[in-house]
Amino acid sequence: TMSKLDRSLLKVTKTAAPKAKLPNSELVFGQSFTDHMLAIEWDASKGWSAPEIKPYGPLTLDPSSCVFHYAFELFEGLKAYRDDQNRVRMFRPDLNMKRMNKSAERICLPTFDSEELIGLIGDLVKLDQDFIPVGKGYSLYIRPTLIGTTAGLGVGIPDKALLFVICSPVGPYYKTGFKAVRLEATDYATRAWPGGVGDKKLGANYAPCIRPQLDAASRGYQQNLWLFGPEGNVTEVGTMNFFVVFKNADGTKELVTAPLDGTILEGVTRDSVLALAREKLNPAEWTISERYCTIKEIADRSDIGELVEAFGSGTAAVVSPIKEIGWNGKQIQVPLLPNEQFGELTKNVNDWIADYQYGRIESDWSRIV
Ligand code: COI
Repeated sequence: TMSKLDRSLLKVTKTAAPKAKLPNSELVFGQSFTDHMLAIEWDASKGWSAPEIKPYGPLTLDPSSCVFHYAFELFEGLKAYRDDQNRVRMFRPDLNMKRMNKSAERICLPTFDSEELIGLIGDLVKLDQDFIPVGKGYSLYIRPTLIGTTAGLGVGIPDKALLFVICSPVGPYYKTGFKAVRLEATDYATRAWPGGVGDKKLGANYAPCIRPQLDAASRGYQQNLWLFGPEGNVTEVGTMNFFVVFKNADGTKELVTAPLDGTILEGVTRDSVLALAREKLNPAEWTISERYCTIKEIADRSDIGELVEAFGSGTAAVVSPIKEIGWNGKQIQVPLLPNEQFGELTKNVNDWIADYQYGRIESDWSRIV
C-alpha cells in the first residue's frame, strides 16, 4: 500500500552541536542555516516515508542520480516572521505548497498533501525558532526542495525522490534601505516561452539566466528585464515579477503586471501586491491590470511623462525599486520620489505587505506556527 505524507510519523533527532546565532548585522541572504533540516524520502512502490527532522548537513547521493543529469529539481521560497508578541508566523504557505505540487506534477516528481507539509515545516521552524531574527525586514527564509534521486542514466520517470527543507535567517535584502536598480532590457535571451515551464519553480529555469545577467552587469546593469516575442512584451525582472505604474492623460493611474499566461512565475508576492492594490487603491483613480505591456509602451510613455514608477516583486526582496532601463541604445529614466530610492506605490506596497507578514493585521495570509 502507498503511504501518504504523514506529519504524525515525524521523527526528530536533535543536533548535538548547536550553532552560534549570528547578529542581525552579519546575516547575508542564504549564507547561514539553522541547526536542523526536514527530510522525507519517497519511493514509487511505498510512497512517502516517515518525515525526519535531523541536524543540518550534507546529502549523500549516487552520482548517477537523475537530479544531477536531467534536472529533476524544483524548489520553493517562503518566509517566517516574528510578530510583536514574539509568535512565529508563516506568510501564505498554502500558495507555496500549491505551486510546489504543480511544479512536481510537471516533472514527474511526487505530489503531497499541502497541509501535512505546512505542518512539518512548522515543526522545523518551531524547533529552530531561536534563529529567527527580530526586527523590521528580518525573517527566516524557508527553502523547500524536491529532487529525483533515482540512480541510473536512463531518462525516465524517477522512482525515488527526496523532499527536504532548509532555513536561512535573513535580513532586509537592501541593508541600507531600498536600493533602486538599473535594468537592461533583454531580448537576445529568453527566460520562458509559451508551452515551456516558466510558470514552474524549477531550478532549470534559473541557471540559464545567469550568463545574460553577467553580460548586463558588464554594461553596468544589475538585472535583466526579460522581454518576450517580436512585440517586446515585458515579462519579468531578474528572478522577480515586474510591475509598472502609468499615468493617463486624465490623471488616473494604472498598475500593470504581466498576465499568468504560462510564461510568468505565479509569485506569491505578485498575488499579494495585486490583492492589496485592489483593496487599498481608490478605483476612481486607479486601474489594476494583468495585461501585456511592451518595452516600447514604457519608452513612449516615458517620453510624454506618463511613466510613474516600476518595481520587481518576490519573496526574497519583497519589492525592488527600478530607476533606469537600458533599451535600444537609450536609457529610460524611471521616476523616484525626490531624494529617495523608490516610488510612492513601491513604498506603500512594501509597508502594506509587512503588516500582514508581521501579523499586525490578522488574516489567513499569516499562519501562526
Ligand atoms: C525571489 O524570492 O524573488 C526568488 O525568486 C528567490 C530567489 C532567491 C531564487
